[in-house]
Amino acid sequence: MTDKYCVIGNPIAHSKSPEIHPIFARQTGQDLVYERCLAPLDAFAATVQRLVAEGYKGANVTLPFKIEAVAVCTRLEERAQAAGAVNTLVFAEGEIVGDNTDGPGLVADITRNAGVAMRGKRILLLGAGGAARGALLPFIQQGPREIVIANRTVATAEQLARDFAPYGIPVHGTGFDTVAGSFDIVVNATSGSLAGEVPPVAASVFGPGALALDMMYGNQPTVFMEFAAGHGAATRDGLGMLVEQAAEAFAVWRGVRPDTAEVFRKMRP
Ligand code: ATR
Repeated sequence: MTDKYCVIGNPIAHSKSPEIHPIFARQTGQDLVYERCLAPLDAFAATVQRLVAEGYKGANVTLPFKIEAVAVCTRLEERAQAAGAVNTLVFAEGEIVGDNTDGPGLVADITRNAGVAMRGKRILLLGAGGAARGALLPFIQQGPREIVIANRTVATAEQLARDFAPYGIPVHGTGFDTVAGSFDIVVNATSGSLAGEVPPVAASVFGPGALALDMMYGNQPTVFMEFAAGHGAATRDGLGMLVEQAAEAFAVWRGVRPDTAEVFRKMRP
């Protein structure tokens, strides 16, 4: 029997995951199908229960259900717990296990694809919403020197910094105009790029040889990437994170991590 997986969201037509997973499956010789699943906005939990009843082995979760997905799980992996959000569900032995591969996918893109080690580095994280929260534990696990979280609403950044203080890496919360010093890695986790808005940080945040990554992606560089490139940073958009979070989810389900190079060649020839 071919194992069934899907991605649950609303809307879902735009999701690239159903293009990515069949490539991984063929490459690794895994017998599975991966579909789109449109869940009604008021029926996420019921949709998950239906998938379980129909024998699906797991699912990805995308907007707007990642936080709601926490509540349907019977068990959470630590990285989903820390993120406060679930993007990967595993249906096995009567359990619904929640995991989150977004942050690990981002780390994989920075360390493997961009070739930038995070150990000992100064990292600036712009934004303090769900996307930023999901990145924090995976970043901390890389052993950076310091993480500064800067946000439009300063109190949210300060609270997020307090939440992650117990992990033993210095984490500070601040506003955009009070960011001090320069950084090796700057990640834009605000949704500002959607509106063409750049977080108003000083250009001096980009240290020599800095990497600037926007979690958003599109056909053109984002306004944040243009700002960063104009001040000497190497830039990346969020496509790498998208592909790598899919590879991490595939590894959670199938126990084998696919090679992402083939997907990159197809998605950005
Ligand atoms: P996500 O899950 O994508 O992180 P979210 O939880 O709604 O979405 O968080 C959005 C983030 O983008 C927040 O950090 C938000 O800042 P506030 O906490 O001040 O709301 C930030 N954001 C949204 N629009 C922005 C803009 N135009 N400029 C700067 N930051 C913005």
